[in-house]
Amino acid sequence: MSHRHEYDVLVIGSGAAGLTLALHLAEDLRVAVLSKGQLSEGSTFWAQGGVAAVLDDHDTVDAHVQDTLVAGGGLCHEDAVRHIVGHSRDAIGWLIEQGVPFTRERREDGSESDDFHLTREGGHSHRRIIHAADATGAAIFNTLLQQAQAHSNIELLEDRVAVDLITSQKLGRGGKRCLGAYILNRQNGHVETFSARFTVLATGGASKVYLYTSNPDSASGDGIAMAWRAGCRVANMEFNQFHPTCLYHPKAKSFLITEALRGEGALLKLPNGQRFMPRFDARAELAPRDIVARAIDHEMKRLGLDCVYLDISHKPAEFIRSHFPTVYERCLTFGIDITREPIPVVPAAHYTCGGIVVDQNGRTDLDSLYAIGETSFTGLHGANRMASNSLLECIVYGRTASQDILSCLDQTQLASDLPRWDESQVTDSDEDVIISHNWDELRRFMWDYVGIVRTTKRLQRAKHRVDMLRAEIHEFYSNYRVSRDLLELRNLALVADLIIRSAMLRKESRGLHYTLDYPAQLEQAEDTILQPPSADD
Ligand code: FAD
Ligand code: SIN
Repeated sequence: MSHRHEYDVLVIGSGAAGLTLALHLAEDLRVAVLSKGQLSEGSTFWAQGGVAAVLDDHDTVDAHVQDTLVAGGGLCHEDAVRHIVGHSRDAIGWLIEQGVPFTRERREDGSESDDFHLTREGGHSHRRIIHAADATGAAIFNTLLQQAQAHSNIELLEDRVAVDLITSQKLGRGGKRCLGAYILNRQNGHVETFSARFTVLATGGASKVYLYTSNPDSASGDGIAMAWRAGCRVANMEFNQFHPTCLYHPKAKSFLITEALRGEGALLKLPNGQRFMPRFDARAELAPRDIVARAIDHEMKRLGLDCVYLDISHKPAEFIRSHFPTVYERCLTFGIDITREPIPVVPAAHYTCGGIVVDQNGRTDLDSLYAIGETSFTGLHGANRMASNSLLECIVYGRTASQDILSCLDQTQLASDLPRWDESQVTDSDEDVIISHNWDELRRFMWDYVGIVRTTKRLQRAKHRVDMLRAEIHEFYSNYRVSRDLLELRNLALVADLIIRSAMLRKESRGLHYTLDYPAQLEQAEDTILQPPSADD
């Protein structure tokens, strides 16, 4: 098998963002779409609630924009919000054309109508979430994957882990251009060279940096780390969103209880059955996520609880089973019948609001390098993402970036003389326990010191620890052959460092960043933009 590969476009990531972009380009260009494990590895497959869009005649773009700006705590970039929300109807139209089976309204006799059912989630002043029952991500992923598999210009490659980007600067060729990437092929154990006219990072978020998360294992911030090492700016990393309601059960790993339950009337309760959200916000259970997660954290700490409860059992059992079949079935496997009893829930890390700085076309600071989806920072989410805005961002930017790529084809040639990966100085590791130990340590101190409520002292402790870990990981990385676990650990540690540094720079509480040392919000809202060192990190 050859260790060199050439494509027009190299897309790193096979979630909603990467597949959308590939499908928009495939008529004109040869595209490779990579996933570091199976193609369904990313968060897209697990998305439950739906996609926010202006679809109802009584809803307006202005109202959706306004709700996003309010949830974002003064930090959203209004031009980006307008761009994305303004294209929401087209984006849903495109998904329907591809064949995504969104849930339709039911008539009184139980038959399906032509209209789509729209649900509600926190922060939205209108019913505007289109969904496929409570497994919207799987419906989108399966449909887009099928379309991509049917296209002869798209090559879908599993078990390929991007290690680092290849840039003109690193090769001493002048300019600031991305020429491709080094990719670990887990099927043969070698690092291969991929040259591409354009490279697109669609690698998803970084919530795996926290001990408890709703995200799949792939969410290790690889794209953010690779872009940073290649010289791209990264912004607003202190705003990691904690989803208020993940299932609390010793055997349930990372299972989300969709916010759409609260949209359809589920109530948050203490063990004694009392509601508590009305004490924290007039919008109660439908306040934006930062407020709900903080309220739960507060009540758990105040009363020494392991969890709180989400109760939808007052709704008809048939309504619950038909709207939330995935949640119903999954909870039942743990002995919880949600039609009869409340669900034990806790907050968990869910979404990376910051990321690689991009412009309105998805361009990064490097020529020929784009970033789309959760890995990017477009300015949409501000200090707190509003529910179901992220899949929308993936679909809109997948298309926008593809259009930009098509518009600059003539000026961008392939560099077919890239050097091979040098493995001559490394050996096989004989102590993998260092990797597993450091994974656990990192994710635990991030949870304890850089979680929902922060202090300067906790951040300083975390900084001290991450510096030590990064030195150890660097030494390991320099001496041993790379593996998926090692690459993810190296990226997670870098992302943790970026989160801590961003959190230390913000001397206020805003949106998802809440610190006891600076509880007030400053008058002026500013992004935290980190500038990479010029040499390799
Ligand atoms: P992902 O879908 O995460 O895909 C990332 C891809 O990158 C994967 O293919 C992965 O293998 C690949 N990859 C990563 N690193 C590398 C590497 N080094 N080399 C090669 N490949 C790599 N949002 C909504 O809008 N509505 C919802 O209802 C909703 N529900 C959610 C429920 C859950 C449980 C979770 C976890 C998230 C939810 N979100 C929801 C958020 C949303 O799902 C994600 O933001 C979105 O799917 C991200 O899509 P993406 O294409 O950017 O990345
Ligand atoms: C959910 O279904 O609660 C997740 C929605 C989202 O993260 O946007």
